[in-house]
Amino acid sequence: MRDGALVAFPTETVYGLGGDARDDRAVARIFAAKGRPSFNPLIVHVADLATARIYVTFPPAAERLAAAFWPGPLTLVLPLRPESGLSPLVSAGLPTAAIRVPAHPVAQALLRAFGGPVAAPSANPSGKISPTRADHVLAGLAGRIAAVVDGGACAVGLESTIIGFDPAPTLLRPGGIPAEVIEDFLGQPLLLPQPDATRPNAPGQLDSHYAPAARLSLNATCGQPGTIWIGFGPACIGADLTLSPAADLVEAAANLFHLLREADRRTGPNGHILVAPIPEKGLGRAINDRLRRAAAPRA
Ligand code: TXA
Ligand code: MG
Repeated sequence: MRDGALVAFPTETVYGLGGDARDDRAVARIFAAKGRPSFNPLIVHVADLATARIYVTFPPAAERLAAAFWPGPLTLVLPLRPESGLSPLVSAGLPTAAIRVPAHPVAQALLRAFGGPVAAPSANPSGKISPTRADHVLAGLAGRIAAVVDGGACAVGLESTIIGFDPAPTLLRPGGIPAEVIEDFLGQPLLLPQPDATRPNAPGQLDSHYAPAARLSLNATCGQPGTIWIGFGPACIGADLTLSPAADLVEAAANLFHLLREADRRTGPNGHILVAPIPEKGLGRAINDRLRRAAAPRA
């Protein structure tokens, strides 16, 4: 990574595709390896809050969230310091940067050994399903990256929750920490982003995303011949695969991306995947966000 190479590594959410966030060439290689539109900015990973302060400034609400939830699956979009030294490609020219302190011990060890800020989007080709195991990374990016550090399956299984502060705490992407947990902690509701044609698409807000090769239909309460039905909870008798037999949203989040890949493998590119309804609360909001994008019409 010190030579500008790309190394995929595990975090508690998903595997990231890491490169030196100060090195224009390394960051450009991340965009190229993923086939990612360069207007979509990347998350900067650092080992701790003290290191984050080198690059961005913290309004009071961000200060409180960082103290409470870092290290962990929370990303904060904050004003860049003028002399941050980050490559402008990381933030796609925006005056803000998305920054997070991952909790995974391998990510922590890598960040400390590297000793600098690591730009890392999810380690998958742009628009495809995020990787929660090292073999998922290789299935999408082998030959385009220098290495993947194998840390086993990711415990959370969904990307970090992204919060912005312009002008008040705003839920930019639902993720590994439920929005309700953050709202309870702050004692105020989170705003939702207002569509603004003058700004680039923020947080995975391109409609089709996390997409399997097969067609995907949501809210399926029964199976159909010739399809793969992914169930949730004890009512889904006869499901081909299940996100959680006991209707546990934490377990469902951890299984989601792996099971979408498995269903895709079983049904083939012209196949059809059905997914049972998931309650729109807690981690269910982030699960449904990913499922809706996976089911969205492809560009
Ligand atoms: O859990 C995660 O967050 C994983 C792991 C690897 O840390 N990373 C991840 O990165 O999901 P990525 O690049 O797939 O998603 C980053 C999201 C993008 O949707 C991007 O639009 C948004 O963060 N983002 C980055 N910088 C931003 C900024 N300055 N303002 C608004 N959104 C930003
Ligand atoms: Mg991603």
